[in-house]
Amino acid sequence: MSQHTVAQPRTVGLTAASPSGWWRDAVIYQVYPRSFADSNGDGMGDLEGIRTRLPHLKELGVDAVWLSPFYESPQADAGYDVADYRAVAPMFGSLLDADALIRDAHALGLRIIVDVVPNHVSDQHTWFRQAVQEGPGSPLRRRFHFRPGKGEDGELPPNDWESIFGGPAWSRVTEPDGTPGEWYLHLFAPEQPDLNWEHPAVDDEFRSILRFWLDMGIDGFRVDVAHGLVKAAGLPDIGTRDQLKLLGNDAMPFFDQDGVHEIYRGWRKVVAEYGDDRVLVAEAWTPTVERTALYVRPDELHQAFNFHYLSTYWDADELRDVIDGSLDAMRPVGAPTTWVLSNHDVTRHTTRFANPPGLGTQIGTEGDVRLGLRRARAATLLMLALPGSAYLFQGEELGLPDVVSLPDEVRQDPSFHRANGQDGFRDGCRVPLPWTVGGSSYGFGSGGSWLPQPEDWGGLSVEAQTGEPGSTLEFYRMALAIRHEHSALGAGESVEWLHAPAGVLAFCRIAEDGQRFVCTANTTKDPVSLPVYGQILLASETAGIRVSESQAVLPPDSTIWWTG
Ligand code: NOJ
Repeated sequence: MSQHTVAQPRTVGLTAASPSGWWRDAVIYQVYPRSFADSNGDGMGDLEGIRTRLPHLKELGVDAVWLSPFYESPQADAGYDVADYRAVAPMFGSLLDADALIRDAHALGLRIIVDVVPNHVSDQHTWFRQAVQEGPGSPLRRRFHFRPGKGEDGELPPNDWESIFGGPAWSRVTEPDGTPGEWYLHLFAPEQPDLNWEHPAVDDEFRSILRFWLDMGIDGFRVDVAHGLVKAAGLPDIGTRDQLKLLGNDAMPFFDQDGVHEIYRGWRKVVAEYGDDRVLVAEAWTPTVERTALYVRPDELHQAFNFHYLSTYWDADELRDVIDGSLDAMRPVGAPTTWVLSNHDVTRHTTRFANPPGLGTQIGTEGDVRLGLRRARAATLLMLALPGSAYLFQGEELGLPDVVSLPDEVRQDPSFHRANGQDGFRDGCRVPLPWTVGGSSYGFGSGGSWLPQPEDWGGLSVEAQTGEPGSTLEFYRMALAIRHEHSALGAGESVEWLHAPAGVLAFCRIAEDGQRFVCTANTTKDPVSLPVYGQILLASETAGIRVSESQAVLPPDSTIWWTG
């Protein structure tokens, strides 16, 4: 069995032949600024830290970098509570640092996507502070959802909506005269008041914010809670408790309302003023892939995260259903399908797959760590063979597991504290990255790290894995290099399924030049026998592969790329 040797990854130049479509099959790497690299020793990652580590991303072979928020913010929700959309929080640096980061990334051929948070602002945002100070009847209150309370003295919230982070979705303000007053809506933490998108000033402000960052040279936006901006008229009661359990499955009066699409038609025009290679990516949790497809119609956003894929377990039947469903849903609107396994809001896929199915995307137990990593590598190889764009979350290239042992007192996720730990394990995937085998915070920075790193973190570091045959880092580098080299990977809008035994996926892609490419994924715990599909390009697990003239044995929980 010979493994393909890969030269250097293709240079991803910004002047590529078809710049308008770079995002269609791009591999986009999410950087979580707090936890990537700390340049000034304050224990918190920053923009300068990211800039100095860009060569790692270049060498990894990704096309673009998505940065989670680094704006001025009191950090009630790790920066998703923005106080000033045009300023960088001092803990992350300055606008000059942002400029240097964007320029350096471009010089390396890496594109930069930034987060925009339009559903809510921080309670420290000038608009909200003034709205509270000016009291009931202030025109500024109309930019938010202020309402009088129910009950004799207005002591009850205006409706029964629950916050995504637990507890009621309403908080009551104290009016300037010191009396308990109106209530305001916050789908997330109380420090994140929801904006009223019916108000023209809100729309104007966000078009201006988009332009500000487009003028800074960024290549696109990831739109936070893209499905939440418009609320059902009259803010009707839902009528049930435990509404968190309904999310993603049922129609909710505060999510996925048809009115959001008009907003994105406007945004598309703004972005189009800057040419056709700046992109808008929706974070839209919807009940079905068909509903997700509505966000990426030709005059709306360019891409939407495929959370249906992210929520799927390592199971051949379920994976095939979601792959077919996603491709079928996107084809009519002409948008590329996207694929994602991990991000800053869910338990890393290494840990999800280390645990039994049915536990969802927030898991607090480490499970079978070796099995989890093995399946995670197999799942990554499967994902990178699918047509469309793929999103990676920092640290998955190191095979990092979620850190499930964090003591409660160090956790910062507001959902952990508001939901009594029920559904708030997001700190576990946010632990700062290990860069070196030893040293302070394993090379993350010189002053420790804002969340404690486990003691064995050095063995998973970039330094430990670089040049190490079979390491997860070298495996990712090779997979991305091959993906760039073989046009059949990532391109197109469908896969041709091949006959395969239960628990196994096998599909074929044909490149424009006629080259045939096959991906086989064995999701079972047993070896399986399949026809030989040509030469092996890459395998997520080499031990146990046996190839005779016509038959090959695939190891359990593994994926293989073939060509020929
Ligand atoms: C989605 C973001 O990914 C998450 O981290 C954040 O807490 C919520 N939106 C609220 O902004």
